[in-house]
Amino acid sequence: MRSVFRRAASSGLLKNMQVVSETSVPGSYAGYGGPRILSPLSVTPSCSPKRAKVAEPRKASSSTQTTLVGRTLADWVVSESAEHQALLVERQPWWKDFQEALDQGVLQGDIREEEEIKIEFKRGGDLADAAEKLLNKVRVRLPEDLRSTIRGDVVDIGNVVTHLCPWSNTLLFKLEVMGESACSRWHRDNYCARAIVTYNSSGTVYAPDDIVNFWELDYCGCNDKIIKDASQVCSVGVGDVFFMKGKKFPHGAKGLVHKSPEIRRHDDGRVVNRLVLKVDVP
Ligand SMILES: [Fe+2]
Repeated sequence: MRSVFRRAASSGLLKNMQVVSETSVPGSYAGYGGPRILSPLSVTPSCSPKRAKVAEPRKASSSTQTTLVGRTLADWVVSESAEHQALLVERQPWWKDFQEALDQGVLQGDIREEEEIKIEFKRGGDLADAAEKLLNKVRVRLPEDLRSTIRGDVVDIGNVVTHLCPWSNTLLFKLEVMGESACSRWHRDNYCARAIVTYNSSGTVYAPDDIVNFWELDYCGCNDKIIKDASQVCSVGVGDVFFMKGKKFPHGAKGLVHKSPEIRRHDDGRVVNRLVLKVDVP
């Protein structure tokens, strides 16, 4: 299916493509190790005094004013996407649990939180080549099905972001580990856009504008003052592809308010590291 997407993307037939189209069911990750890890964990807020009143963010499951939910990435390439601050394709993870391998890799120094696993991609370049170069920088042993997923995501997301941001000549692909240092305050990105996929643990959290106190957001308010109605906060699922428009997106709805999920810990206190792919449009 991915090759279909790539062929269609290159021939301009994005609307007819079928890529990954499963719809996630909250709490259901059949064949995936995520819940086995998540459910017994105690959750420690990354910034205790600033913790948002977000007990359990609800899973986005349908199109809202904030988010356009497509069945495939091709569904994002429509004029209607201009009316939304974020675009989402929900996917159910199909790769094996790699949490222990990632945590061990961080423990052994094979991969670090501050490590720059990054590729700059210029429009017209070879996305498959960029994917290989990015993965070649990863020293931690990731399962082949995950590497294959990341490889496909770099190509597919790169293609669709190129279509969504025709003014941009540069995309930045980054693979990042987020663990102990993930301290998250609600914010809007000060650049054009970012596509993001979280491959384990938990995904990005976001808030519709109508539940945000923008004075608190802009003037250093703490998280629980920024959000007016915590029950309306949404979360992106593991495996989902999420495109967030930043403050510098040149037209239409923009400036999605979002943050990283709260830090999670194993029963023995070790942090649950997350592996994240980011595709940035500066
Ligand atoms: Fe951000």
